[in-house]
Amino acid sequence: MEKIEIKNISLNNGIEFPLVGLGTFRNADDKKSFKEAVKYAIKSGYRHLDGAWLYDIEDAIGEAIKEVIQESNGDLKREDLFIVSKIWNTFHSREAARQCLNEILANLGTSYVDLLLVHWPMGFSENLGMGPFPKDEQGNRLYSDVHYLETYRALEEFLKEGKAKSIGVSNFNIKQLQDVLDNCEIKPVNNQIEVTPYLQNDKLVEFCQKNGVVVSAYGPLGGSQKSTNRPDLPIVLENPVIVNIGKKYGKTPAQICLRWCIQRNIVVLPKSSNPQRMVQNVQIFDFELSEQDMQDIKKLEQNYRVYSVESLKDHKFYPFNEE
Ligand code: A2P
Repeated sequence: MEKIEIKNISLNNGIEFPLVGLGTFRNADDKKSFKEAVKYAIKSGYRHLDGAWLYDIEDAIGEAIKEVIQESNGDLKREDLFIVSKIWNTFHSREAARQCLNEILANLGTSYVDLLLVHWPMGFSENLGMGPFPKDEQGNRLYSDVHYLETYRALEEFLKEGKAKSIGVSNFNIKQLQDVLDNCEIKPVNNQIEVTPYLQNDKLVEFCQKNGVVVSAYGPLGGSQKSTNRPDLPIVLENPVIVNIGKKYGKTPAQICLRWCIQRNIVVLPKSSNPQRMVQNVQIFDFELSEQDMQDIKKLEQNYRVYSVESLKDHKFYPFNEE
């Protein structure tokens, strides 16, 4: 199997972060085939795996890692991989965050993660035994008022204990990230947000990069109608501008979307369980989009958010009412 070299970007703590990671959200339908897909991804060159407690998939990632390392006969070590996970919203208090991390580490079968993120600024009620999205009998969401700074401070403790090599946030807007930067002891290295040609997030990306926080993009291909269950979703990969740029370079629309991100110094986290597409999604280091192509894609901005989680709009820390 051809192994592709993936370039890195440096984090503000000097650690190297691979520019392409494998997204793993909504891959839990069949854990066995997902485990095989992760093994295939690592064998074809992926080193960065983006998981989360919520995805209920980290046990399969852990098994895949263990097997690939064993099968490599010493060629691949745990230290060669960059494993990301995220503390879920029902674990925002200091004690609960620790419980969440312990579950993550046990599922992955590792003593540390390379990067640990606060998944969302919004905390949900804890310890109710109602799963990840607690609701009352009338169907109203049950929130907690734990501040995201408390969660972030727990992450700082985990870093000092060696259980996370780097820490950061996800889905934080400018104000929330500024709040973390103003109050933290250890600077976040990363903000993971949605970025697509239809949601370019210019101001937030610029703010993060100005402050030494690397941006990573989830859903960089614009999501699929099938996996999001939204037939109305505009299909980024069919946009004629993207398709035509792809033809010019002999690249697919997906590769154009990913290359456009990495040329903005944004890490990409495409999801695929299909081996050909997985490999395709890392073959983006052998061409460069021209300034004109970058400008043409810039014009596609629609402020169209796929993962807007509108049902959480009444949460006091809902991040998407402002940039
Ligand atoms: P599949 O798993 O069948 O490859 P996003 O990361 O933007 O949420 O998009 C994920 C969706 O895009 C998945 O449905 C995935 O389906 C599909 N996908 C992943 N890579 C490619 C690609 N290179 N070309 C077309 N579709 C892709």
